[in-house]
Amino acid sequence: MTELDIRAKLGSLVEPELGLAYDRLGLINTIQITADTIKIDVQLPTPAYPGRERIGDAICTALYALSTDRKVEVTYSWKVLGKETGGKIGLRIKNVIAVGSGKGGVGKSTTAASLAYGLKHFGAKVGLLDADVYGPSIPHLTGSKGTPIVKEFELENGQKIQRLEPIESDGMKILSIGFLIRENQAVIWRGPMLHKLLTQFLQETDWGDLDYLIIDLPPGTGDVSLTLSQLLGLAGAVVVCTPQKVALLDAIKAISMFDQVKIPVLGIVENMTGDIFGRGGAKAKAAELGLPFLGEIPIEATIRVRGDDGKIASLVEEDNPARPYLLRMTENVAMQIVKRVVLDAPLPTLEIL
Ligand SMILES: Nc1ncnc2c1ncn2[C@@H]1O[C@H](COP(=O)(O)OP(=O)(O)OP(=O)(O)O)[C@@H](O)[C@H]1O
Ligand SMILES: [Mg+2]
Repeated sequence: MTELDIRAKLGSLVEPELGLAYDRLGLINTIQITADTIKIDVQLPTPAYPGRERIGDAICTALYALSTDRKVEVTYSWKVLGKETGGKIGLRIKNVIAVGSGKGGVGKSTTAASLAYGLKHFGAKVGLLDADVYGPSIPHLTGSKGTPIVKEFELENGQKIQRLEPIESDGMKILSIGFLIRENQAVIWRGPMLHKLLTQFLQETDWGDLDYLIIDLPPGTGDVSLTLSQLLGLAGAVVVCTPQKVALLDAIKAISMFDQVKIPVLGIVENMTGDIFGRGGAKAKAAELGLPFLGEIPIEATIRVRGDDGKIASLVEEDNPARPYLLRMTENVAMQIVKRVVLDAPLPTLEIL
């Protein structure tokens, strides 16, 4: 049995979580065949990949069915898949994800920060950008303080450029207008100023190499989303809503806003699921709209308390009732991105002789 035989056999297996073949997902990385073992390294397209063992089991089953007497060993590695469309403005970020809603106070910032720390928890390199210039709450939720400094770099051609340095908090690069204005200072933004600020936050900031950049959007209005969409190709938007009927109408508004500015919607998260607000409304709505449901986050005092204490990062790290929900939501978002990147990529063309 040669490496090519093995690649052909494994490449056509279908990954049940995404319904895509292993070769389209690029899962089979290296294959080492020795006298008594076959070692396969599975390269996952995101570290937030649920149920990876299923892949190992399927590989073993497939190879033992080829009646090999060698032992099969499977290892796992990962390399985040992305469109890397930020390149046109000089960003080295694989996936930019916006988190938005049609309505204020539904938990966008909480969801955005939890998603960022969730992806980081799985091992990815992540940044968090607070684009809510009207009511920045990321500094408060993450307990991060400081004034971003401007660094000067010299390019190879001798030209000097200046870059804003994000604040680092719990191993996460964070940028927010909240770091640049006094607390409780209201800021009135005119369209061009807003555009300039966001451009600076993206284009003139030293984000470095990131797997994911999460952007917390202000509620409702589309101007921030429009600017983002003009600057770079986003991996997509996560729409947050609460289970009530009124809130669901707002979610529909948000979805139509993202459609207008040409940002693909990755799916819907239901936040504050529980006794008071009900449950499952968003799931039903997602199904009705043909959008992926990205998970529910229960209404939990611990979420509010840790956010108020500036310890939102601990929600995904330490045991608490919200943790499994937040990690599941993180996996769902990561997997939707993988699916989109793979489905949008051109199929390998067959050479016709
Ligand atoms: N699942 C939850 N359980 C309990 N409290 C929550 C939950 N989600 C969010 N909260 C709390 O609700 C309040 C609003 O959350 P958050 O700031 O994340 O909403 P938002 O949509 O970003 O608001 P805004 O529109 O003002 O930006 C916060 O006090 C937060 O701690
Ligand atoms: Mg917010």
